[in-house]
Amino acid sequence: MVNGYIGFLTLVVWMFSGGPTHASSPIEFNPPSVVVKYGDSVSVLCSTSHPKPVGMGWESTIGGVSFQLDVSSVTWTVDKLKDWTIEPICYISTDGTQYTKTLSVIVYKSPDSVSISPLNHSGPMVEGTENNLLCDIKNVAPLQNLVVKWYKGNESILNITYSHLSKKTPGDVFQNLTITPSRDDDGAHYRCEAELDLGPEGPQPPPTMTSEPLNITVHYPPTFLSPEAEILDVRMGENISLNCVATGRPTPHYSWMSSPHIPNYPQNQSLLIPSSELPGKYTCIATNLIGQNSKMFIVNFQQKAHSKIHWIIKLSGLILALVICIGCVVLKVKAGPNSLF
Ligand SMILES: *[C@@H]1O[C@H](CO)[C@@H](O)[C@H](O)[C@H]1NC(C)=O
Ligand SMILES: *[C@@H]1O[C@H](CO)[C@@H](O)[C@H](O)[C@H]1NC(C)=O
Ligand SMILES: *[C@@H]1O[C@H](CO)[C@@H](O)[C@H](O)[C@H]1NC(C)=O
Ligand SMILES: *[C@@H]1O[C@H](CO)[C@@H](O)[C@H](O)[C@H]1NC(C)=O
Ligand SMILES: *[C@@H]1O[C@H](CO)[C@@H](O)[C@H](O)[C@H]1NC(C)=O
Ligand SMILES: *[C@@H]1O[C@H](CO)[C@@H](O)[C@H](O)[C@H]1NC(C)=O
Ligand SMILES: *[C@@H]1O[C@H](CO)[C@@H](O)[C@H](O)[C@H]1NC(C)=O
Repeated sequence: MVNGYIGFLTLVVWMFSGGPTHASSPIEFNPPSVVVKYGDSVSVLCSTSHPKPVGMGWESTIGGVSFQLDVSSVTWTVDKLKDWTIEPICYISTDGTQYTKTLSVIVYKSPDSVSISPLNHSGPMVEGTENNLLCDIKNVAPLQNLVVKWYKGNESILNITYSHLSKKTPGDVFQNLTITPSRDDDGAHYRCEAELDLGPEGPQPPPTMTSEPLNITVHYPPTFLSPEAEILDVRMGENISLNCVATGRPTPHYSWMSSPHIPNYPQNQSLLIPSSELPGKYTCIATNLIGQNSKMFIVNFQQKAHSKIHWIIKLSGLILALVICIGCVVLKVKAGPNSLF
């Protein structure tokens, strides 16, 4: 600290006695820039390619190095870096010229927590309506390098960056996402992820924290697979069943109507088996919290079909008649034209 202060004073003196020149800098850092986790150690070597340096030093709030004579490199070292806005400067003095270079330091901190919740809403969502989800990221730095990623299941749906923010100290971030769920989203898991994209100098893979998944429930009205009216032909003695199964959430319940009216429909059944073959129009209504839908069945009564035996008798009769006719013709031919026949 004291060294840094002395270094700074030296620098000030130089500045007043001519000021730094920004001509091609003979100062090099190794590594060229650093990304440090808050509280971690860091060490950077400042060296010069200048043939005749008078001396060098580091000016920094922590880890400063006072002016050293006749050296061509100095090291800036901090055991526990706890300064969000640190900007260490390496300086070099040559005969008549002074050079300075600022080291780029990114101090980062992973969030304390990342959570997802529905915004201004609780319970199930309704298909086709807008809903907001909120991602709450606590105590992260620097915001400039933060990327908030939204996922539905394993599908990436939105990435948001904060590169326009320059705040280096930790802060909280609230990010909302507007969704308009469909019935296919019922049971989907949404989550958000906070990633610190610290570039190639940063840790690989980038530090990432993910929220717990938010499982959403989507309500939608009852829907029939085939909503158009069904026409059924029923024959005497046959049983028919009218299938009114509808998908919907919450699970639909059912009621029936018909003309002519039939008393005592079974309650809340998606399948109706009319107890006797009654022709007419049957209407089923599937209802849930969100809405209702109806489906019509037209049952036509068909005359009892002629049985096989019936056909056999008829056919036999026809054959018999034909045989008789042929027999008559044959007889007439045999008897000759003058016969009584
Ligand atoms: C959420 O609800 C609160 C009060 O219930 C209201 O003050 C706030 O403006 C609402 N926010 C949004 C985004 O609708
Ligand atoms: C998501 O997971 C499903 C299986 O659960 C898989 O078929 C699909 O390819 C995955 N998609 C992506 C983008 O990873
Ligand atoms: C978000 O970024 C990742 C890479 O980090 C990329 O794979 C994904 O496609 C991006 N998602 C969107 C919605 O742009
Ligand atoms: C977040 O909510 C505000 C209103 O509260 C809205 O104006 C904004 O568009 C929302 N952002 C996203 C990404 O949905
Ligand atoms: C969300 O769904 C997952 C997987 O189906 C399950 O493990 C988890 O308990 C559910 N979370 C809630 C809050 O229902
Ligand atoms: C029709 O249904 C009745 C009562 O449910 C049953 O007794 C009868 O055997 C059924 N007839 C046929 C042809 O399935
Ligand atoms: C009808 O059936 C549904 C699904 O089986 C059930 O949730 C509902 O409570 C029933 N309603 C009545 C009035 O019985």
